[in-house]
Amino acid sequence: MSAVVEDSIRQLKAQRQAPLCAYLYDLPALRAWASDIAASLPPACRLYYAIKANSEHRILETLRPVVSGFEAASLGEVRRIRAVSRDCPIVFGGPGKTDDEIEGALQAGVRLLHVESAQELRRADLAGRRAGRPVAVLLRVNLRGPLPAATLKMSGAPTQFGIDEAELPAVLRVLRHECTHVELKGFHLHSLSNNLDADSHAELIALYLQKAAGWSAELGRRLEVLNVGGGIGVNYRSLDSQFDWTRFRSRLARVLDAHAPPGLEILFECGRVVTAACGYYAVEVLDLKRNHGTHFAVVRGGTHHFRLPASWQHSHPFRVVDVDQWPYPFDRPELARGHITVAGQLCTPKDVLARDAYVERVRIGDVLVFSHAGAYGWSISHHDFLSHPHPETLYVG
Ligand SMILES: Cc1ncc(COP(=O)(O)O)c(C=O)c1O
Repeated sequence: MSAVVEDSIRQLKAQRQAPLCAYLYDLPALRAWASDIAASLPPACRLYYAIKANSEHRILETLRPVVSGFEAASLGEVRRIRAVSRDCPIVFGGPGKTDDEIEGALQAGVRLLHVESAQELRRADLAGRRAGRPVAVLLRVNLRGPLPAATLKMSGAPTQFGIDEAELPAVLRVLRHECTHVELKGFHLHSLSNNLDADSHAELIALYLQKAAGWSAELGRRLEVLNVGGGIGVNYRSLDSQFDWTRFRSRLARVLDAHAPPGLEILFECGRVVTAACGYYAVEVLDLKRNHGTHFAVVRGGTHHFRLPASWQHSHPFRVVDVDQWPYPFDRPELARGHITVAGQLCTPKDVLARDAYVERVRIGDVLVFSHAGAYGWSISHHDFLSHPHPETLYVG
């Protein structure tokens, strides 16, 4: 945990008695980390940020000068991006786009539309006719696989995402014979989530390049853009063993030398790996108890603010920040050198953030700080279940 986060929590607790519950974001750390990722990619590559991971205004503002553009999956996300920049490049994707969304995206000046089916291609063409100008698209393909192991798979398996690779020839026929207002720029392949292995990620991109080259040759068109999606992982189970960027960089450079045609632009649209580490979810311990032999810390907050551990069924890493103030006229309960399960305030046994985690000491009134909470934390949570107050959002550094 960064010292600045720990100091901020102590300062906050010195100023107020109400139990702490907050997301804290270290923006200078975010800027430095995202700059490192962008700079580490070979020259043909551009880093876009998939804002579904975290679309807070100040996060987008911090990333704007660092990334080449943003990925949006709804008009709401497009508006959030336009609130920080009127003209930065946006790529727009996601299954089941409505006509209003396609037209709204075009009006907002999105650079590329990711088309997920033949039906969507026809509707994009119609939108282009209405607008009187061609719509630049990438076709999103769901590869047949096999693909590397990962926490979630969007492709290589039956999912709602993209055009089945086996159906692509039929969709290309629609493009050739029916569409007058669609300009195919290339392909989009976001196949998995949370890949921790640098070698297999580089190999995946090699596969994408070979597939896209074949499809372009079939069409007799130059491949201009290949979007290789996001999916680079964060190791929540073992924080010291993260995706190896140095290895990835050298493997990717070799892959591009072997397979990338000259002039091809390769887009990465990463979410998790960009913002996970800059975010912390800090919650105060309200109660300590033992039930059926298991020690529980009940905290001010829970999975309605931070659904990630429940969604991925992992025990999320946290640190205890000692808070010395104790306002009550009775003894302060504590657990020393033991294992604790951290639960929230909801009325479901699924409201658990960490299980059987070892702590040197935890007391009621201490603050537990969950690290790597900056991606798919608040943004994927069911905020209003039970109508508890929302956490504060604080920016440090
Ligand atoms: C189409 C698309 N692109 C990019 C991303 C971002 O992926 P990640 O956060 O794994 O980098 C997602 C996430 O689900 C996605 O659906």
